[in-house]
Amino acid sequence: MYHTEDKRSDKQATLRSASVPGKNSVEEVPLKPESPELLAKIYRHFREYFDKAERKRRWHIETDIPWDKCNPSLSPAIADIVETFCNVELFLPDYLSKLIPQVRANRGRAWMLANWGYEECKHSMVMSDWLLKSRHRSEEQMADMEHEVFSHEWELPYDNARAMVCYTTFQELATWLHYHNMRKIIGNEDPALNKLLALVAIDERAHYDFFRKLVGIYLEDDRAGTLEQLRRVINTFKMPAIHMFADTAKRVNEVKNMRIFDEDIYIYEVVDPIIQALGVTRKELRRRNSPREIVAMGGAG
Ligand SMILES: [Fe+2]
Ligand SMILES: [Fe+2]
Repeated sequence: MYHTEDKRSDKQATLRSASVPGKNSVEEVPLKPESPELLAKIYRHFREYFDKAERKRRWHIETDIPWDKCNPSLSPAIADIVETFCNVELFLPDYLSKLIPQVRANRGRAWMLANWGYEECKHSMVMSDWLLKSRHRSEEQMADMEHEVFSHEWELPYDNARAMVCYTTFQELATWLHYHNMRKIIGNEDPALNKLLALVAIDERAHYDFFRKLVGIYLEDDRAGTLEQLRRVINTFKMPAIHMFADTAKRVNEVKNMRIFDEDIYIYEVVDPIIQALGVTRKELRRRNSPREIVAMGGAG
């Protein structure tokens, strides 16, 4: 997604030309089985996340948004983007029903998905509420939108739970950037939308933080196996679900044109900070048997 053929830096060109999605499969570096000690550590990590969320981060759709300050005259282009965000969040039943079976024997991860699902369901509800209360969409339009969304089914982009935790880390930081950048664009033009984006962005940042630290735990336990999955994900990353919409190209262009998210942002504000925070070097991410300096990057399609 957000593939820009025209203005690509040398870095991007190098990155993409090395991309062979699906080639570096899990068989190249087998994953180390998860030990009881590792599972206990992951559960402790979840409990810290959960306890902090209960103490500091719970918010309420009805009372924490200044709904009387919705702006019906806000640019329709902004409402289109909120609708796109809302659509992506609406695939929650697919996300949960496919992710939980991968980790059902890993309590920390399974419980996290239950909690994550609760937080994500608020995101689609609060955005749906804004679209209606701001009068940018009617009840009928919202019903049509939901019908369209649920006529498609999201599938897991990777075949194992280790790759999926890497993927979720990238997806959560990218999602945070979407909301954060959108909020900067609207400023005070719509205080209700501003506030809801602020609250949702805080959640997304907390999700990113949880999953990045979880990847760190896996790197400590099984560096080679986790690096292999990290490499696959960086090579082939796409934002979830958006390619499934009937008018995907239009929606992606709207997001790119406002500089909310594009390929440069993916490299410099998602990939670079994540590998730096994980303490992973570009050399470690180089594909084995490849003379290239760095792995490929995703965003294609
Ligand atoms: Fe979300
Ligand atoms: Fe999230």
